Formats: sequence, C-alpha cells, structure tokens
Amino acid sequence: MSDELHEWAQSLDTLLAQVWKRLGRGVADRRAPGRHPTLATISPDGMPQARTVVLRSADPDAGVATIFTDRFADKVDDVRAHPHAALHIWDNLAHLQIRLLTHVAVKTGAELEPIWANLSDHARRCYGFSPASGEAIAEGLSYSKTPDISAFAVLELTIERMDILHLGYQHRRAEFSRHNDWAGQWTVP
Ligand SMILES: Cc1cc2nc3c(=O)[nH]c(=O)nc-3n(C[C@H](O)[C@H](O)[C@H](O)COP(=O)(O)O)c2cc1C
Repeated sequence: MSDELHEWAQSLDTLLAQVWKRLGRGVADRRAPGRHPTLATISPDGMPQARTVVLRSADPDAGVATIFTDRFADKVDDVRAHPHAALHIWDNLAHLQIRLLTHVAVKTGAELEPIWANLSDHARRCYGFSPASGEAIAEGLSYSKTPDISAFAVLELTIERMDILHLGYQHRRAEFSRHNDWAGQWTVP
C-alpha cells in the first residue's frame, strides 16, 4: 500500500470528501463496503449492542445518515433510552475505517408515508413481525410477517464526530467535528 495510491488521504479536505463519497457509494451500490455498516447502541440497562444494518441515505450537507428498522426492534428501545449511536464501516477498497458518533432521532408514523410508498413489497416485509423482534418462539420459523407502516421506523443519525483512519504505507488518522464546522484535526493512529 502506498500513500500515492490514495492521494486524497494526504489532506484533511480531500480525506473528508472521500469519506462522504464512500458513504454515498454505500447507499447507491449494494456491493459497496459502505452498504452494511455496524450500528452500535447502548441498551436501556447500559450494555453495548452492535448489529449490521443497511445504509439508506448519507447527506454531506446536513451531516445526516439514515437507517430503516422495525419499530419494535431492540435497537429502537436502545436509542430511546440513550439517543447516541456509533456507526462503523471498514471500507477495504479505500483502506478506510470510518467511525461516526451520532445523535439519533426515531421517526415513525405518517411522516414516513413517502418513504413507505417507495418500498417494494419485499422490502416492506422486513417491518411487521409477529411476535415482535427478539421475542422467544418455540421453533425457528414460528413467526409471521404482516407488512405494516406502523411497524416501520427510520433512525435519523445526525453525525457529531467522525474518527477516520486511513491505512497506507504510513497510516493517517483524523477527527472531524460538527462543532468546528468539520475543519478536521490530524490525530495519532
Ligand atoms: C446484511 C444485513 C443487513 C441488515 N440490515 C438491517 C437494517 O437495515 N435494519 C435493521 O433493523 N436490521 C438489519 N439487519 C438485522 C440486524 O442486524 C439485527 O439482527 C436486527 O435488526 C435485530 O437487531 P436489534 O435486536 O439489535 O434491534 C441486517 C442484518 C444483516 C445481516
């Protein structure tokens, strides 16, 4: 690996632009590494929780990403109790580890109708489990799915801080914060 391979890693501005590019590719391309981040939350009893999700949007201007989920999934209880979550991506193609510290808002109900209307029948079947997600059942398939907008939730992740690690011949790490307008600061890897 040489730093020349990734010239964008050499300045804070181009590094940040590359992070947004990789996030955008994750939204658009189901085979991109950014497609499947790990979302880490804190459960109501204070325990760490991490799971794979699909990145649904990433808006560089607002600094906001979204994830779709079942309203009755444990992760929704987690962020209602502790409204911060971390999103983690290892983009092996770009040699980038992307760690996002976010503040989470849970969206439900009528405001999601435009998004729900655009989901395929197949996609809608991820929302509306009976019994609810995480409940104990007698057999592996002892559950049913009735797609229902009232079981659909969008997690809106407002990014507060990014910790970015680039693996090159020499590694580089940088932190970008909303509070200083994403100016960026190099840090020790
Ligand atoms: C490839 C993959 C993609 C997934 N995408 C999502 C997703 O976008 N939203 C979601 O709620 N769960 C998704 N899941 C399921 C979660 O990882 C998790 O098993 C489920 O949401 C229950 O998590 P919870 O009990 O912590 O809420 C995905 C799992 C895999 C393996």
